[in-house]
Amino acid sequence: MQPLIEQVGQLCQEALRQIQEAAEPVALEGLRVQYLGRKGKLAEFTAQMGQIPQSDRPAAGEIINRVKQTLTAAFQEKQTSLNSQSLSRRFSFDITLPGVPRPIGHLHPLTQVIEQVCEVFEGIGFVVVEGPEIETERYNFEALNIPADHPSRDSFDTFYLEGGKYLLRSQTSTVQIRIMEKAKPPLAIVAPGKVFRPDAVDASHSFMFHQIEGLLVDQGVTFAHLKGALDLFAKRLFGKETKIRFRPHYFPFTEPSAEVDVSCLLCQGKGCSVCGRKGWLEIMGAGMVHPNVFRAVGYDPKKYTGFAFGMGIERIAMLKHGIDDIRLFFENDVRFLEQF
Ligand code: PHE
Repeated sequence: MQPLIEQVGQLCQEALRQIQEAAEPVALEGLRVQYLGRKGKLAEFTAQMGQIPQSDRPAAGEIINRVKQTLTAAFQEKQTSLNSQSLSRRFSFDITLPGVPRPIGHLHPLTQVIEQVCEVFEGIGFVVVEGPEIETERYNFEALNIPADHPSRDSFDTFYLEGGKYLLRSQTSTVQIRIMEKAKPPLAIVAPGKVFRPDAVDASHSFMFHQIEGLLVDQGVTFAHLKGALDLFAKRLFGKETKIRFRPHYFPFTEPSAEVDVSCLLCQGKGCSVCGRKGWLEIMGAGMVHPNVFRAVGYDPKKYTGFAFGMGIERIAMLKHGIDDIRLFFENDVRFLEQF
């Protein structure tokens, strides 16, 4: 019989040749079991060790170990190469080529402004809530003290649905009523959302736009609280130097009412083309909640007072970013959107 060492050498040569020729991962695995498996050929030699002379055993043991290492390495190498071959066969293209990068998007500029505004008010204890876009006359008008003959209730100024049973809300002030019906004072909410008006679309009008409504009700709320909250808001959103001013105005659901201006963001009040040389930009309507609104939701107007405000999001985003056409927000042109 051939000496063990020679037999192991031959076995190694033969195994290496077969590994080289293996064409499939399955065949290779078969070979691995055949040679290196627990009952494989190499294991058989280890079992025969007892039959060779004591003095030859260390050398034989070392040879068997070396062959084991060599074959293990050869199997691994071949496996890697078979795997990558079979991958590229499966895909029939070069899988090592770099991929096509997908551009990563970001929040729409209007969503960004909504989040910024909400964050400022959340910082002083307001809670963000939402209301439905399809409403009834009660929430859009009646409970807000808007009389039946008010021009805004005309079909030219409101989208009516189903013969007038429902309408698309024309202001987020609807959410004031919805909240007060459900909750008792004290409460402080901001309500962002879409509103709809049948306006002809141009650079500054759209049949759909966004507002954020604010409402705070408690005992002893005064106009000074309204001023304080809005002054803080303007400074947080537009910068520390920003000033606000109130101009007397009329809204059916607030009394007294005001339009609120901020000092022009571009010229800081000196007067430029954006503010029409006035130095001020109108950004919202506001006022003290009308007693009739409290009555409509069952609050006692002698006990509670409150303030409300409503601002247009598109207008604020346009002022912040110097955008001159409202239609740009809704066209979904990535070349516009990616700038913000
Ligand atoms: N709802 C008013 C509008 O759409 C804005 C407003 C809200 C005014 C709350 C006063 C108080 O013009």
